[in-house]
Amino acid sequence: MTDVLLWVVAPYLAIVLLVAGTVWRYRYDKFGLSTRSSQLYESRLLRVGSPLFHFGLLMVVGGHVLGLVVPKNLTEFFGVSEEQYHLVSLGMGSLAGLATVTGLGILLWRRVRTPAVRGATTGNDKVMYVVLVCVLLAGLATTVITNGVQGGYDYRSTVSPWFRGVLLLHPDPSLMASAPLSYRVHVLFAMVLFALWPFSRLVHAFSAPVRYLVRPYIVYRSRDERPVERRMSREWQRR
Ligand code: HEM
Repeated sequence: MTDVLLWVVAPYLAIVLLVAGTVWRYRYDKFGLSTRSSQLYESRLLRVGSPLFHFGLLMVVGGHVLGLVVPKNLTEFFGVSEEQYHLVSLGMGSLAGLATVTGLGILLWRRVRTPAVRGATTGNDKVMYVVLVCVLLAGLATTVITNGVQGGYDYRSTVSPWFRGVLLLHPDPSLMASAPLSYRVHVLFAMVLFALWPFSRLVHAFSAPVRYLVRPYIVYRSRDERPVERRMSREWQRR
């Protein structure tokens, strides 16, 4: 019964809150769908912490897609053995996780130490930061401790098929229930984070200005200070 609650009911509850909460936030707070930027208050630490956190997280997300969505037999089909996969995920995962945690550490230090930035932090954001730290530290523990120091664990035989089961609407709770504690704690915190997502500054991930990369150029012209007659080409001028 507990396993069904944790690994079948809870993930769908988190997904419903994530989707419905985002739609609600979009409808009622369209212009607040942002990071609530604090760059004007402090930019020295932000310049270091923000890229470290965001690029680290992009690598973490890439690793999650590869490890959770791509089935093990597909990587094996392409000649990647479990040992090779393990070594790459340990190396890249540790690097990405450490960059993300260090970046978040700098951002949180800045947020606590700069009074204006601290003042611009909502109650929901404070709760979100605590959960985010727990997700990242538990994730790093799965990679560095369970997968590294303790010799390794093949999560692509349990956590990954469970995750794909959630997406395909037939999750098998016994798969997650048999995973080591660090994985279960990590995934539980991740579900809480997804549920909090729309109600915190994390919602800015859905309003990232991606279209900026492909939008047409904006043409800027300097103001022409000459009198109107001299601005026109000679053909248009009265003779
Ligand atoms: C239900 C969602 C999630 C599942 C099933 C999941 C699963 C996993 C697994 C299996 C690992 C171990 C990877 C390895 O050892 O190679 C891991 C590591 C990690 N996870 Fe997650 N995770 C989820 C959500 C998240 C979220 C939302 C974040 C961050 C906001 C996150 C951050 C991390 C970090 C930092 C690591 C360690 C570095 C790495 O291996 O990439 N995870 N996660």
